[in-house]
Amino acid sequence: MPQIVTIERHILDQQKRFPQATGALTGLLYDMALSGKLISRETNRAGLVGILGAADGVNVYGEQQQRLDMFADDVIFKMNDHTGRLCVMASEEHDDIMHIPDEFDCGNYALLYDPLDGSSNIDVNVSVGTIFAIQRKISAGERGALEDVLQPGRRLVAAGYMVYGSSTMMVYSAGQGVHGFTLDPSVGEFLLSHPDIRIPAKPRYYSSNQGYQKVWTPGVRRFCEWLQALDDDEREPLGARYVGSMVTDFHRNLLYGGVFFYPGDMQQPAKPNGKMRLLFEAQALAFLAEQAGGYASDGIGDILDIQPHSLHQRVPLFIGNRDLVETAESFIREHDQDWLEAYRPFREGRR
Ligand code: AHG
Ligand code: MN
Ligand code: MN
Repeated sequence: MPQIVTIERHILDQQKRFPQATGALTGLLYDMALSGKLISRETNRAGLVGILGAADGVNVYGEQQQRLDMFADDVIFKMNDHTGRLCVMASEEHDDIMHIPDEFDCGNYALLYDPLDGSSNIDVNVSVGTIFAIQRKISAGERGALEDVLQPGRRLVAAGYMVYGSSTMMVYSAGQGVHGFTLDPSVGEFLLSHPDIRIPAKPRYYSSNQGYQKVWTPGVRRFCEWLQALDDDEREPLGARYVGSMVTDFHRNLLYGGVFFYPGDMQQPAKPNGKMRLLFEAQALAFLAEQAGGYASDGIGDILDIQPHSLHQRVPLFIGNRDLVETAESFIREHDQDWLEAYRPFREGRR
C-alpha cells in the first residue's frame, strides 16, 4: 500500500523545516482546508436546494437560503476570526477590509480570498473554486490595516485554492513547491495526490473567452493566432478549453500545460485593466504558477511585482507556461502602444 499523507501531516512536515516557526501558519492552512470541506459539502448539494429546501427559501436547517458565494465568504471569515492568527481579512465579497472582532486577539498574518470563483457556473453544475493568499502583517498598530493586504504578491507567505469539481481538491504552496490534495469524502480527509506539481514544458491548452475577440487589442489577437499556430508549421496548435471559472481553467493548465488569459480591452467604454482582481485572484495564482515553474503577467511584467493601490484593483492576466506568457508580452510591446498608454494609469494607481 502506498504511503498515505493527509494535508495536516504534510503541512506539519513542511513546518518542521523552519525551526523558528510558531505553528500559526500551519494552523491557518489547516483551517483553510477545513473551510474547503464545508464549502464543498454545500456546493455538492447546490442542485438539491430546490428539492430539499422549503418553498419559501428556508433550508432544511431552518435558515434562510444564502447565495453560495455569501455562504462561502461567511465560512472562511468565521473559521478564522477567533484563532489569534490573523490581524485582518479581505474578501472579494466585501468593499472594505474586515477587522478581527474586538473580543478576539490579533496575530501576524493577513488573509485575502475569493470565496467562490466562477460562481455563475453553480447553477449548471460546472466546477467552481476558492482562492486564498496569506501575507505577513506589516502595519504598526495592533489590529491590522489596509497596508497589510495592499502588498505585492512577491511578499506572499503562502497561497492556494480549492476546486469543487468531480472531486474536491486543495492545492497550496508555502514557498516550497506546489502540492495537491484530493478530498476523500468517505473519511473527510484531504490526501496527498499531486506532490510537487510542475507545469509541463509542452503546453496543451489555451483558455480565454474568445467571444470577446473583437474588442481585444491587435497584440492579443495576434498572440491568440500564434497559439493556434496558424502561420508557424513547426509548432502544434494548442487546443482551446475555457470553463469560465478561472481557478478551474488554471488548475487544468497547471496539470497539462498551457496559458489562461483575460486581457484588458479597448472597446468603448474601454476596460484597459480587464476583469481579474489583483488581490483576490491574480496574486495567489501567480504565486502558485511561479512555484510550479510557470509565470504570470499583466502584459507588461510580473504580476507578483505590481504594487497594489486599491483593494478591488483589476489587472489583465496572462498566466501559465513561462514561454507562452513572455510571448504575449512581446506581442503587446510590439502592437499595443495605445493600450499600454491607457492601462498604465490603472497599474500605477493614478486612476
Ligand atoms: P467570480 O465568480 O469570483 O466573480 O469570478 C468570475 C471570473 C473568473 O472566474 C472567470 O474566469 C471569469 O470571471 C469569467 O469571465 P467571462 O464570463 O467574462 O469570461
Ligand atoms: Mn473570482
Ligand atoms: Mn467570487
